[in-house]
Amino acid sequence: MSADLTTRYLGLDLAHPIVPSASPMTGNLDSLQRLEEAGASAVVLWSLFEEQIEHDEQQALALAELHAESFGEAVGGYFPTLDDYNTGPGEYLKLIRDAKEHLEIPVIASLNGTSIGGWLRYGKLMEEAGADALELNVYMIPTDPDTTGGEVEQQYLDLVAALKASISIPLAVKVGPFFSSIPNMATRLIDAGADGLVLFNRFYQPDIDLDELEVKPNLRLSTSDELRLPLRWTAILKGQVLGSMAVTSGVHTAEDVIKLLLAGADVTMMASALLRHGPERLTEALEGLRSWLEVNEYESVRQMKGSMSQASSPDPEAFERGNYMKTLVTFARPMR
Ligand SMILES: Cc1cc2nc3c(=O)[nH]c(=O)nc-3n(C[C@H](O)[C@H](O)[C@H](O)COP(=O)(O)O)c2cc1C
Repeated sequence: MSADLTTRYLGLDLAHPIVPSASPMTGNLDSLQRLEEAGASAVVLWSLFEEQIEHDEQQALALAELHAESFGEAVGGYFPTLDDYNTGPGEYLKLIRDAKEHLEIPVIASLNGTSIGGWLRYGKLMEEAGADALELNVYMIPTDPDTTGGEVEQQYLDLVAALKASISIPLAVKVGPFFSSIPNMATRLIDAGADGLVLFNRFYQPDIDLDELEVKPNLRLSTSDELRLPLRWTAILKGQVLGSMAVTSGVHTAEDVIKLLLAGADVTMMASALLRHGPERLTEALEGLRSWLEVNEYESVRQMKGSMSQASSPDPEAFERGNYMKTLVTFARPMR
């Protein structure tokens, strides 16, 4: 008998725990259908930005262009052409309606912004367009030395509470790892109304071009090396945070998916891997997960989920500072 791969995320029953996260791959119906054919159990649409809603169509187009041009690796590959992008809020709502009409799997819409304002009404409009859940991506980069960490955190919480009050579908909040106390913030986000967390936003770092002496937006796709940060925090948060947990950043292979499930993730999300290798990468990861469960005699994803979280681990210190010195001391210098 084959293993039961089902998982529950934001109150939605999913066939398995591998979901494409927001990216240009989830920005048009054609690639959404390819992702469903490849086996995706749900999709997170690419984001509608606060800036897109608040500014005119022209500015939205520039933003979409920036999105496309800042991403060299997939040009001519899996990156849809600019014509395929949503250029404004109306188009975005149409994408939700089209996706709901043509796909069987749950569709999670994504709102991306930082301030409380009129743009938040789009949460309700997304719900009315048929979205099964909403993901709020708070991509905040505080640069003012007068702004305290507490104020930044409160802004997140106010935003979550305001959005949650206006919708009745489940809400996930996608955040970065830069909080002084991640467990405290995670708990407060759930208390403020989030039904789940998406760990972690990947912050795109600008670079300086030494030939042109210009600051360049520099979007590099991830590798599996980036999995370690969300892996640790998933393991620590499992059991402490009451909402669902999805993990994004560094999920490329079946092994990455398996590690995150063992740490306690309900869902694992892929973007870079799909942009680099196409939707077939999701099929491969799914097959890899299925056979790993069988070889290791697990009956279900539910059975394995969280079995190596910090609370369940025979070596809980491995996730904490205690492991730090040991790791440094046991590092073997590479032979010259
Ligand atoms: C080209 C590109 C566009 C993205 N656009 C969005 C977006 O619109 N909204 C969002 O929340 N995340 C967006 N992301 C972030 C991804 O959803 C994902 O969280 C991040 O890339 C880390 O996962 P990965 O390691 O699988 O790439 C984008 C990522 C890439 C590479």
